[in-house]
Amino acid sequence: MNIGIIGVGYVGLVTGACLADQGNNVICMDVDASKISLLSGGRIPYYEPGLPQLLERNSAAGNLSFTTDLSLCMKSAEYLFICVGTPEGEDLFTDLRAINTVTDNLCNLLERNVVIVVKSTVPAGTTRKIYNKLQCALRESHKQLEVEVVSNPEFLSEGCAVEDFLIPDRIVIGTENGHLSEKMTRLYQNFINEKIPVMHTIYENAEMIKYASNALLAAKISYMNEIAAICEFYKADVRVVAQGMGYDRRIGNLFLKAGAGYGGSCFPKDTNALLLLGEQAGCAPGIVRETIKTNQNQIKLMLEKIKRNVEPLNGSMIGVLGVSFKPETDDIREAPAVAVIEQLLQEQAGVKVYDPRAMESFRRGSAKFELESEPDHGVICCSNAYDACTNVECIVLFTEWKEFEKLDFGYVRKLVSKPVFLDFRNFLSPEKLRGHGFVYEGIGVR
Ligand code: UGA
Repeated sequence: MNIGIIGVGYVGLVTGACLADQGNNVICMDVDASKISLLSGGRIPYYEPGLPQLLERNSAAGNLSFTTDLSLCMKSAEYLFICVGTPEGEDLFTDLRAINTVTDNLCNLLERNVVIVVKSTVPAGTTRKIYNKLQCALRESHKQLEVEVVSNPEFLSEGCAVEDFLIPDRIVIGTENGHLSEKMTRLYQNFINEKIPVMHTIYENAEMIKYASNALLAAKISYMNEIAAICEFYKADVRVVAQGMGYDRRIGNLFLKAGAGYGGSCFPKDTNALLLLGEQAGCAPGIVRETIKTNQNQIKLMLEKIKRNVEPLNGSMIGVLGVSFKPETDDIREAPAVAVIEQLLQEQAGVKVYDPRAMESFRRGSAKFELESEPDHGVICCSNAYDACTNVECIVLFTEWKEFEKLDFGYVRKLVSKPVFLDFRNFLSPEKLRGHGFVYEGIGVR
């Protein structure tokens, strides 16, 4: 098949590369010329395991290419995937400007029959509006074309996005047109087996499935963070509680990890959007509201923990291990670490930061921080974990990168000026850290 991908963020690039790897001809388009030039030169603007190999293999084979020219991307496309960003606007509503611009451009440029696949996360009702707009444009321009639109939300987690695409939990195909459903199933036939449910449903259901899934996953995390706070008071251990809960198949053992809270480019914006969509609908989605509130409260809670252990914060030096919002990504968007670092700086503490993959995005995204300035006020970017732990009064772990498990904690103990270890992902063994003479605290951990 000939496929065009519009928007090469995480979703567009993973989708394009995986479809190319299945033998399709894929052209990816983006308005960001610097991104396209990087990708054309075989480089990926962010870290995603498995993606470099797919890019290399399929670019070399000639079935994956990149352009800034939308007409070129559309020229022979039988399927056009819309994967542009739908970020949070200043009013917290989903900012649909990029997808609206793409739709307008499609209205003007369409010259052949095509299936338009909406992958971007959009509020219920958006795909139908796109469909109506395109049909109206075709009528007005007297173009006799068959242009179909399908809602096909993505469920890709950063860090394992390639695997999520190749072995999905489910495929959701939103269209009321049976013939189009079949076409989409054919496109995905290599990924489908008897274990992977393919859901055929209407636009609005497909769109809601995406928001409702993300919000429930976020709610599980906030719920466990509430349980962690209660565990802390009663001297229970939330890790053990989560394990016991997870054996219940109705609950499941995933997304029960208490810690720094959820970040990233999806959960924070999608929970905010769902709250507003609910309020607009005249409902009061209390669970979604409290999920957001609990997540925001984790930042305060972590700061209080640091303050309890570092007295006074003003003029102290804190070592930060991990700034990405989760491991296996260099993405720092809405990362809890960044929010806490901002607060620490406001309180006049100095911060030494190390992340195995995210230092570059941290430097780029942290223009507001005073980087490598005075030694005890501002942020010092370190090239390894040991540097970030040297002469600090407290080590704070925000991201559960595997390499942190392998640190020589006996040596780390000698580097610090005060042995306090705050593990905000409950990642390391309290016994081990305490054995090395650290005061160890997690989130809801004994
Ligand atoms: C999320 C969803 O998991 C994907 O299914 C979805 O497609 C994607 O959003 C999206 O909307 O595009 P992602 O944001 O990449 O994917 O990351 P997750 O693995 O879901 O983690 C989100 C946050 O929750 C991270 O900060 C992580 O550390 C945190 N988390 C996760 C916890 O605090 N506890 C847990 O038990 C699990």
